[in-house]
Amino acid sequence: MSLFSTKSNSSVEVLSKILADSYVLLLKTQNIHWNIEGSKFRSIHLMTEEHYNNLFDAIDCIAERIRMVGAKAPATFAEFAKLASFDEKVDTDNQNEMLNALLSSHEAIRVDIISGIKKLEDSDDFGTIGAIDVLNSRLAFHDKVVWMLKSTLKK
Ligand SMILES: [Fe+2]
Repeated sequence: MSLFSTKSNSSVEVLSKILADSYVLLLKTQNIHWNIEGSKFRSIHLMTEEHYNNLFDAIDCIAERIRMVGAKAPATFAEFAKLASFDEKVDTDNQNEMLNALLSSHEAIRVDIISGIKKLEDSDDFGTIGAIDVLNSRLAFHDKVVWMLKSTLKK
């Protein structure tokens, strides 16, 4: 039996969705990094830079994990738009609304990660353990960002 023959492709499906979410969120985060204006400019500009750097590294790690299971990583904007749970649009110039747009995307990706982990816990495909590892570390990042954004938004 080949290392890559799997009973199911659960880990590929789950990781592909999180890859797409992360890519869309990277762009959304950069949009706000570039276009934010207002009293919180400096802190939001710097915070979003930390976040998009983290997302950039994560995207590579998630895509390479998909390759380790032997599947092709989705790598086009069309595929990302189809797979992601939210879009990249930020329809506001208001700094708090921008932060709320980021917050809702981080919350959405958390939901996808948690349901992905649950799905993989019932799966026995080859990539499961590695995928759960990656997903747990991504969850920790998004938990932290949700806390940071909520704290920044607090009146
Ligand atoms: Fe920059």
